[in-house]
Parts: sequence; C-alpha cells; structure tokens
Amino acid sequence: MLIKVLGSAAGGGFPQVNCSCRNCADARLGKPGLLPRTQSSLAVSRDGQTWVLLNASPDLRQQVAARHELAPHAQAGVRSSPIKAVVLTNGDVDHIAGLLSLREGVAFTLCASERVLGALIANSIFDVLDRRLVPRVPLPIGKPLELTHFGISLGLTMEAFPVPGKVALYLEDPTAGSALGTRVGDTIGLRISDPATGAAFFYIPGCASIDGGLAERLRGCALVLFDGTLYSDDEMIAQGLSTKTGKRMGHISMSGRDGSIAAFRGLDVKRRIFVHINNSNPVLRPDSPERAEVERAGWEIAFDGMEIQL
Ligand code: MLT
Ligand code: MN
Ligand code: ZN
Repeated sequence: MLIKVLGSAAGGGFPQVNCSCRNCADARLGKPGLLPRTQSSLAVSRDGQTWVLLNASPDLRQQVAARHELAPHAQAGVRSSPIKAVVLTNGDVDHIAGLLSLREGVAFTLCASERVLGALIANSIFDVLDRRLVPRVPLPIGKPLELTHFGISLGLTMEAFPVPGKVALYLEDPTAGSALGTRVGDTIGLRISDPATGAAFFYIPGCASIDGGLAERLRGCALVLFDGTLYSDDEMIAQGLSTKTGKRMGHISMSGRDGSIAAFRGLDVKRRIFVHINNSNPVLRPDSPERAEVERAGWEIAFDGMEIQL
C-alpha cells in the first residue's frame, strides 16, 4: 500500500491567506525549514495505478499538479483520472471543497457518512458533480466497506468509526448546547487496509479526545496519521488569532496531560505521524523546543509530498 501526504496543513493552509502570525510571516519570507503546506488530504493506492483520496482539499488542483502519479495516464484516453474514489472524514471546508475541482467530468466514487452526505445534499453547489459519474456511497460506521469504482474493486477496505469531535463549523447549532448539534458520523476515523497483504493504517485528521475505545482500537497498530492541529489548547488565543480553544474547535492538542502525545504513550503504535497541522503550531519550526519534544516522544510531522509504503 502506498500513502502520499498531499496536504499536511489544517484549514487555511500554511501560510494562511490572512495570517501574519510568526510562523506564517516567516514562511512567506522563505525562512529555512518553514515549508509551505497545503490543506489536509492524503492519497492512497494499492497498486500505484489507481488512487483513493482521503479528503478533498481546497488545494486539490495544486496537489494533483504536484504529483505525477495523479496525472491522467496517457493510454487512458484524452479525459481520465487515476483518482477513482474520494472518502471524507468530516464535512469541514478543508476536506470537501476540493470536490468542486473534480467537477470536470471526472468519474469517481464518493464515500462519506450519512451525516456528511447529508451536508453535501443540503449544499446544492455539490450537485455540479453528476451523480451518474460520481455515485455517492454511504460509509457505514463500524462495518468495513470494500471500495469499488463502477463494480471494480480498488483493492482497499475502509472501516469508518466515530471519534470524539464536532459538527462542521458552518453547521454548528448555537442553540443546541455545548455539543452544537453534533451527531454520530460528523467526525469519523478510518482504518484503511489492503486485504491482499493485511497491511493497515489509521487516518484520524480530526479528533477532540482519545477515549478508552479509541485507544484500544489503535493499540499495537503499524501506523497512525493523527490530528496535529494545535500544540497547546490555548495557542490561538495566546497568539491573538482567535478566541477559541482547540477543544472548542474539536481538536485535541499535542501537549498536556489530556493531549495526544500522552494518550498514545503505552499504546505501542509503531509509527505516529501528525497531519492537519495548523499554521499557529510551534512544531512547524524545526528549531523549536516543541518540535524537539514531539520528536523525542517518537512522533513525526507530516509534510506535503511525504510518502509511506506499508
Ligand atoms: C477544523 O478543522 O477545525 C475546520 O477545518 C475549521 C474550518 O472549517 O474552518
Ligand atoms: Mn480542518
Ligand atoms: Zn498564521
């Protein structure tokens, strides 16, 4: 199984269009080590020929242009794409807006939870994706689904499971109490496996906390790509960027007693990689003490173009 990180940043990307935080300003200046990052997406393939996108980033066009594997195959006709399926983990803008860049008659299977498919149905702009070319397949929660494209297996199985999180920002219901109207299926994690080899990994780009069930699910696995939005829960407030904590945004932080680094300790996960990294996060600076701390704890920081073979 081949995994490529197309975009390693959280919503807004790095640098973000309206942001002059220290990280964004230094990235704009081209300071060494502060690599620009596009918004959150992975590509996965069993054979290197057909590809599945995990989330469709607003930067999808740029991401596809940067990766020759995702270019149309010369022998496949004048209009084609090796992208045969897109699987969504939530309805956030940074995970769905790229669908609009796949509207030019590209045929692919679109998989998401009933909740996220509901958000697409409610936003008629997504009807630009012709359902005869882009069938919408509900992703069952807790039951593995073999991915197919017009009846042909893509050789990958997706298992969706609920993770603690929050409904998409534009669907928040302020009258619904602290849960903001969040329901099962608003945020899912994925276990992606290749039944032919048994290789498997987890992709969880948005997660508010790690409860006992999630910890047991991840115990002993080979690879997790996990929510690395913030280093500290109040980081955006401290930098004057927002009034929201990470918890309010549905994102666990890396550090702290209830952070992801602590929660993964003892779970024996062989490879741990942070994705969906917000531009405010100090781990983006290669010389920061926070980066050193994360690496000391055995974590890697994803970057655009990162490749993993399982
Ligand atoms: C998030 O990850 O919190 C969202 O992408 C926020 C947003 O939709 O802007
Ligand atoms: Mn996001
Ligand atoms: Zn910034």
